[in-house]
Amino acid sequence: MPVFPADDIHIERAAQRLRDGGLVAFPTETVYGLGANALDASAVAKIYAAKGRPSYNPLIVHIDSVEAAQALVSGWNERAQTLARAFWPGPLTLVLPRSSRIPDIVSAGLPTVALRIPAQRVARELLERAQIPLAAPSANASGEVSPTRAAHVSASLGEHIWVVDGGDCEIGIESTVVDVSGRFASILRPGVISENEIEALIGPLTAPVSGGEEAPRPSPGMLSRHYAPRARVHVFSSLTDAHFHAVLLGENQKVGVLCFAPTRIEDAREIVLPFDPRACARRLYAALRELDEADVGLILAEEAPDSAEWAGVRDRLRRAARGHEK
Ligand code: TXA
Ligand code: MG
Repeated sequence: MPVFPADDIHIERAAQRLRDGGLVAFPTETVYGLGANALDASAVAKIYAAKGRPSYNPLIVHIDSVEAAQALVSGWNERAQTLARAFWPGPLTLVLPRSSRIPDIVSAGLPTVALRIPAQRVARELLERAQIPLAAPSANASGEVSPTRAAHVSASLGEHIWVVDGGDCEIGIESTVVDVSGRFASILRPGVISENEIEALIGPLTAPVSGGEEAPRPSPGMLSRHYAPRARVHVFSSLTDAHFHAVLLGENQKVGVLCFAPTRIEDAREIVLPFDPRACARRLYAALRELDEADVGLILAEEAPDSAEWAGVRDRLRRAARGHEK
């Protein structure tokens, strides 16, 4: 039974499988993760294989306490302490210098490790029972939209993957990733915890170091080709733009629309998203999947406001669109 309920018996079985070096997909408050024992390199290798994930893209390690996090880093610091106290458990990932206990494969050879304490009940119970840190990227084939419900995992990775079903994810987009490993802190991936909230606690952030698309980067998740649905995505900034592109690109294919207010684009499959950053994030990936399932060839997505609270949603839409430029 590849998808099973999140009751005691099944969580225990899942924990046992993880201790034995197997893979289990499990819910977190952000998206479903594909977990393996983070201290076991051959278990972690199975994650890369199952996802078709490039070996240079490191994984997030999930733990259930700050002490467990501290045991996996070589330099816990004050900023990490402040952010952990404010946002853990929750949708925040901290990048810190890694301890030698973390196998190379987890952090793709980087000198750092990404850590997060999830808040979701099932994730917490699984971590408690397994008593091991869990490396877990989003439980989707590499490059695809992250899963926000159990059925998405099976659809993306296959029916043979074990999935603990914890219902729909409350946050809906991946955690905010903050690099606090060096002298300057920076956001490597925006999420629902905003830049403003982080700066209010640890002071000004700097832009992440980036050497262009092909250069080694501090966070390969910053690769633009990521989080993409099957359909081509165009982000529109006005109704005129939307209608223009529907005509220009929509010929001979079904058009899907993601918008905050109805567009009246003819014959389009339209999903109106809530105009609230958190509510919108919760709905976003399932909406992209619905449009893919409706076999649209083109998705016209309304640009989200340019403010810190919307940065996560804006980022995912931009990447969904860029996934098709190459
Ligand atoms: O919300 C989430 O973060 C979900 C749930 C399952 O926890 N996980 C997730 O994992 O989104 P994944 O693998 O899809 O994204 C991990 C991100 C990538 O952008 C990766 O490049 C970055 O974290 N990352 C991991 N380790 C890193 C490191 N040592 N330095 C910089 N970035 C790192
Ligand atoms: Mg992912």
